Amino acid sequence: MKIVVATEKPFAAEAVQKIKQVIDNAGFEFLLLEKYTDKSQLLDAVKEANAIIIRSDIIDAEVLDAAKNLKIVVRAGAGYDNVNLEAATAHNVVVMNTPGQNSNAVAELALAMMVYSARNFFDGSSGSELSGKKLGIHAYGNVGRNVARIAKGFGMEIYAYDAFYPVEAIEKDGVKALASAEELYLTCQYVSLHIPATAETKNSINYALLEKMPKKAVLINTARQEVINEAELVKIMEDRPDFKYLTDVTPKNDAEMKEKFPKRYFSTPKKMGAQTSEANNNAGIAAANQIVDFFKTGNTKFQVNR
Ligand code: 3PG
Repeated sequence: MKIVVATEKPFAAEAVQKIKQVIDNAGFEFLLLEKYTDKSQLLDAVKEANAIIIRSDIIDAEVLDAAKNLKIVVRAGAGYDNVNLEAATAHNVVVMNTPGQNSNAVAELALAMMVYSARNFFDGSSGSELSGKKLGIHAYGNVGRNVARIAKGFGMEIYAYDAFYPVEAIEKDGVKALASAEELYLTCQYVSLHIPATAETKNSINYALLEKMPKKAVLINTARQEVINEAELVKIMEDRPDFKYLTDVTPKNDAEMKEKFPKRYFSTPKKMGAQTSEANNNAGIAAANQIVDFFKTGNTKFQVNR
């Protein structure tokens, strides 16, 4: 069995070694393609692959066509919007993710961004504290739950809206569950996004929603670029000089945002929410184990394209 780790944004070296160990121990062959700059390198690397471990790497029909022996793709992480699920299913390829394995890392970054915003981007001026402020968690999945847990330590008042997660389970965590996204944005000065990029959520964070936020609104996006209506975000930031946006997923209009809102807009140079050695180890090793288990026992527990 040939297992290819194809990561444009590499895992920490230690995680790569640990992934290799799992694959070696199973008696499989380990191949590594890191920091590739052209799709042709990916197409070439997957030619003989039986399994691929990826991060945000794009797996489209062309990649699936090139990987004639492919049986399984594991996205070492949560969101699998970078994989064409229909094409994978049509190619008889199982797609899995590794839910929860990198969520603490992303949650810590979301809180770090809140602090960075509250302290005026560390510019030395008098800022504010998170304690006592209202935080709205938009989608209460693995990352959202970790955000709630950490934010409690900061003394924030925590609210959440999730269209699918049971209200009782949210409230059991000491978080107030709200009935709609509108209510969440209306209530909370800080909103942290944890929704996936789907047909329903794309462009859904728009002017109508953001204008509801209270004074000194702060929107934190460690989720996906596509969920933001970027033109309407610009408009709200033009109309509301109190509005700040901090993101780990660079918008298409990054240059415009930087130029127009230098003191109210921040974007990481590269998505780094899950970029910790712990998250790399957890997600990478889980991905490798899931592949070994799939080939040895047929386990498809984490399959997302059923
Ligand atoms: C995820 O969906 O798991 C996160 O967005 C992390 O993505 P990354 O592996 O590309 O850092």
